[in-house]
Amino acid sequence: MKDMLTSREIRSRFLTFFKERGHAIIPSASLVPLNDPTVLFNTAGMQPLVPYLLGTPHPEGVRLADSQKCVRTQDIEEVGDNTHDTFFEMLGNWSLGDYFKKDAINWSYEFLTSKNEGLGLDPSRLYVTVFGGNDDAPKDDEALAIWTKIFKDAGVEGERIYVMEGKLALKNWWSAGDNGPCGPDTEMFYDVTGKLNRGMTHEEYLAADDKQQVVEIWNDVFMEYLKEGGKVSGKLKMQNVDTGSGLERVTMVSQEKDNIFATDMFTDMMRIIKDDAAEYNERAARIVADHIRTSVMLIADGVTPSNTDQGYILRRLLRRAVRYSDVLGLKSGFTALIDQVAANYKGVYDNVEANLPQIKKEISDEEERFRKTLEIGKSEFRNYLVSGQGTRGQPMTESSKIMPASVAFKLFSTFGFPIELTVEMAREEDIIVDLAGFNEEFKKHQDIS
Ligand code: SER
Repeated sequence: MKDMLTSREIRSRFLTFFKERGHAIIPSASLVPLNDPTVLFNTAGMQPLVPYLLGTPHPEGVRLADSQKCVRTQDIEEVGDNTHDTFFEMLGNWSLGDYFKKDAINWSYEFLTSKNEGLGLDPSRLYVTVFGGNDDAPKDDEALAIWTKIFKDAGVEGERIYVMEGKLALKNWWSAGDNGPCGPDTEMFYDVTGKLNRGMTHEEYLAADDKQQVVEIWNDVFMEYLKEGGKVSGKLKMQNVDTGSGLERVTMVSQEKDNIFATDMFTDMMRIIKDDAAEYNERAARIVADHIRTSVMLIADGVTPSNTDQGYILRRLLRRAVRYSDVLGLKSGFTALIDQVAANYKGVYDNVEANLPQIKKEISDEEERFRKTLEIGKSEFRNYLVSGQGTRGQPMTESSKIMPASVAFKLFSTFGFPIELTVEMAREEDIIVDLAGFNEEFKKHQDIS
């Protein structure tokens, strides 16, 4: 068996690989975008680079590479499965009007498969998709030809390149939102079962993707188009490359694990939780590990818990972490976990260690605040159950066990009870929360504040 690369080695191999191919290595931007009030966090490596992809010259030149810290919380409920996390790092290399498809694709393949310079992944477990064309742009014949040659030269047999046409073409089109640079992409997938190595038909590939037997490990976007108001409006002045590879994901496949929490990015945190838990539960442990890691990284980048914007997300993460630490019966709090996050990122993101006392204080203060409100919130929730009444006096009957939005919102706004905790506690009682109504109330409240 090949020697296992650590996540640190993978990050540094990636940067060295692209440095040797003429790229300036730039530091990760803060998780909080500096000049873009329309998004709360950086969610992709390209986000801090948008002005340069649109044509502003970058001071470091036309070839850049980095490992960008990202936070995505739209799938927060999925955390606990094998692949979801709320913080991750995206390895990326960029061409600002310099090299284009041929170099980008060849380097991606080389990094993934080279034993000396890259990850040494098995080429016969790689599968790729290519943009099949639509009203916005033609089929990407160039990417198709490049991949065909790569697999042929490497002697890798079997069908493994899929042209995504019709409705599927949109899967191979990438943009950060309704406005900005965008373009067709080619995505690389790895067979995590190790059993599909003879190639697959297109249908078999789609089924394998659905079953997560293959996972996406890299995306090369060919950004030569511009989107305005949700529509592709034309071509950019130059042809850019934007690539992204999730460090957690590539570490997972490189270390031959079936979930990110079994990689060296999480094993120490998971061990601390296991040793401390009165009643171990894998899902809860993963949620605590993930949410504490993300919270530490956010506070290190200057976010503090509050009821709006970034601070609200941090508050939600911490309050969920507290709740799941109770599910686990953690006896020693979060201190050892926070220290472990700092150790994991020592020499990479040193602002964690530098701000350790403040990070610990913010987390324990928020835990204390939450514990107070939790008691009140729980008793309010019980009152609600006992009375069988919503705050507007709706009776709760067996056939309509629905918690009105007004109740959920009162628990949230008056008692600081996070909506997902209300949903979970309600679920335990077979009650469904009117989430759509809650979201409306929440939006109204935000608009007012
Ligand atoms: N921007 C693309 C992505 O996030 C490639 O980096 O997948």
